Amino acid sequence: MMWGIYSRTMVKVGMAKPCALLKPCHLVKPVSATRVPGRYLTHQKGLPTLPVPPLHQTCERYLTALEPIVEVDELKHTTELIEEFQKPGGVGERLQKSLERRAHNTDNWLSEWWVQVAYLDYRLPVVVHSSPGLVLPRVNFNDKQGQIRFAAKLIAGVLDFKTMIDNETLPVEYLGGNPLCMNQYYQVLSSCRIPGLKRDSVVNHAKSSIPPKHITVVHNSQFFVLDVYNSDGSPLDTDQLCVQLEKICSSSKQTNMDPVGILTTLDRDSWGKTYNSLIKDKTNKESVSAIQRSIFTVCLDGQMPPVSDDMLRSCAAVQMLHGGGSQWNSGNRWFDKTLQFIIGEDGTCGANYEHAPAEGPPIVALIDHVVEYTKKSKITESPVKPLPMPQKLHFNVTPDIKKDIEEAKQKMNTLAQDVDLKVVVFDHFGKNVPKTHKMSPDAFIQVALQLAYYRMYGQSCATYESASLRMFRLGRTDTIRSASTASASFVKAFDDPTKQNTEKVDLLDKAVKAHRWYTNMAISGQAIDRHLLGLKMQAMEEKLTMPKVFTDNSYSKALHYLLSTSQVPSKTDCVMCFGPVVPNGYGVCYNPMESHINFAVSSFNTCNETNAAHLAQAVKDALLDMRTLLEQTPRAKL
Ligand code: COA
Repeated sequence: MMWGIYSRTMVKVGMAKPCALLKPCHLVKPVSATRVPGRYLTHQKGLPTLPVPPLHQTCERYLTALEPIVEVDELKHTTELIEEFQKPGGVGERLQKSLERRAHNTDNWLSEWWVQVAYLDYRLPVVVHSSPGLVLPRVNFNDKQGQIRFAAKLIAGVLDFKTMIDNETLPVEYLGGNPLCMNQYYQVLSSCRIPGLKRDSVVNHAKSSIPPKHITVVHNSQFFVLDVYNSDGSPLDTDQLCVQLEKICSSSKQTNMDPVGILTTLDRDSWGKTYNSLIKDKTNKESVSAIQRSIFTVCLDGQMPPVSDDMLRSCAAVQMLHGGGSQWNSGNRWFDKTLQFIIGEDGTCGANYEHAPAEGPPIVALIDHVVEYTKKSKITESPVKPLPMPQKLHFNVTPDIKKDIEEAKQKMNTLAQDVDLKVVVFDHFGKNVPKTHKMSPDAFIQVALQLAYYRMYGQSCATYESASLRMFRLGRTDTIRSASTASASFVKAFDDPTKQNTEKVDLLDKAVKAHRWYTNMAISGQAIDRHLLGLKMQAMEEKLTMPKVFTDNSYSKALHYLLSTSQVPSKTDCVMCFGPVVPNGYGVCYNPMESHINFAVSSFNTCNETNAAHLAQAVKDALLDMRTLLEQTPRAKL
């Protein structure tokens, strides 16, 4: 099995001076709410381009990053390789120059490579391995009628957000006073991933000459085209949407249809092959094209297995991440679709999104808007002018396709069985406590994760945290390497009875500051992972013998992220979730609110060494113990 080493994954920690470009940066905050058409391009053009960091800086920082995660002799060997790599006139310098030329000639030297390597060349199923789920707060309904009414409001809310995209009136977002690239917002609607035999692609129909006016709705694994605009161009209102959704539900009551959508859960090579035979049939091709072109997909789900109240959130996360298996809702999806909203009959709701076009924050901003909209929106049940019946999408399922569907069902069920996913609400405190102690909340949480991991395994591990590169034109992400020499010293000292509390507090302070320093470096384009990737890609483009630094054991260790983490903040009390990126690792996504923190922790059951509930508990304990330490130990005035 090939594992993804890049996405939501790849960097190091060093203690050089803080990056000059940034003050401590803050949450993304929308400021200006108006935009005249055309201003989008002007805004984009005004953004700086992603820099190529100096070669020596990356080499030095890479070695520092390896310190807490490799053995002494491995580090010694890698140090020699790095010296050879960066010596004057060596291969490193040559690649660096090529990279600088590329940066000069493109809008963003990294983004295209990144999307290819991290997403489109990635051959494991997108479900669990790449596409995140998002769990929204449970809504107060418990039947089909409630499901339809909420779905109608949600669709109207997304269309309202789409109006801002279409009119280019989306508020520009800022990070630490710097405007951010808004391109990802223009990539998430009317787009879809297309499987290929060796590499996938993404199509975006938003800018086509006739932009799509429909969404797709899937119910009992049957797909429908729902036109969401009236002939005068106005979006259907919630009453109209309710009527249309009712028609869809009453004409798709059969539950034994072939779930063609389950094919999108296959590994990408197999799906690419099946896709080519599926679309040989004209009807199938038209149906698939309608799904791909649609603005987004709404999945009206059936039941999920009954669980106790304390497991409701975790069960909802399973529903959003993969649907629970073929006997539940995994076939009620088209996982290639960039944006799928998922609504159960029991008030459960959320989303799943295909990662290639965007990161979590733009998706969550859209969803924050939709959630607010659904709260205000009313269904009046006033009579509506008759609308045409939504068109059902038909599939001709040949015996070969049927076989592939059966195989996809089995594989999906095995994967569903394998995923161990726990959502926990840490309700003792949120961002408020670290702020009181003048510490970055994100850094505090990351250091707690390091402590939790160390307590379970007695060592630090390569840890990935996503850092936004959206301060640059077409920027995506780089990696914050949360395991640093400073965090390693702190976690080793924490449970050591020979250490004084004052020393522990000092080490905690240093670990938090090291993390914040790395964050500032990463978001200002000076982290190491994407730079190293760029040098490697450049060597491949120039067909050079791969430099030994990239075939070195330390590099593999550095990219084997046993902890793959991401902060996805939101106004709504929700949490995103994703799978681990290596078989023996954890995926940890968190949403720090002011006075509580939502966590989603995942691992694989087939790995005996990992356990999502145990890590979740260890993180809770670490957060509480760190607070106690701070409260019990007076600190010198900072
Ligand atoms: N003392 C007091 N308050 C502090 C502080 C300190 N030393 N440092 C930070 N804070 C405050 C900030 O002012 C901010 O306040 P707010 O809640 O009023 O906005 C808050 O604490 C949060 O700051 P912090 O915890 O440091 O994190 P951040 O908001 O700067 O986020 C990242 C850090 C890495 C998450 C962010 O830069 C980023 O890159 N996000 C994108 C991640 C991404 O793409 N994820 C999705 C992948 S799919």
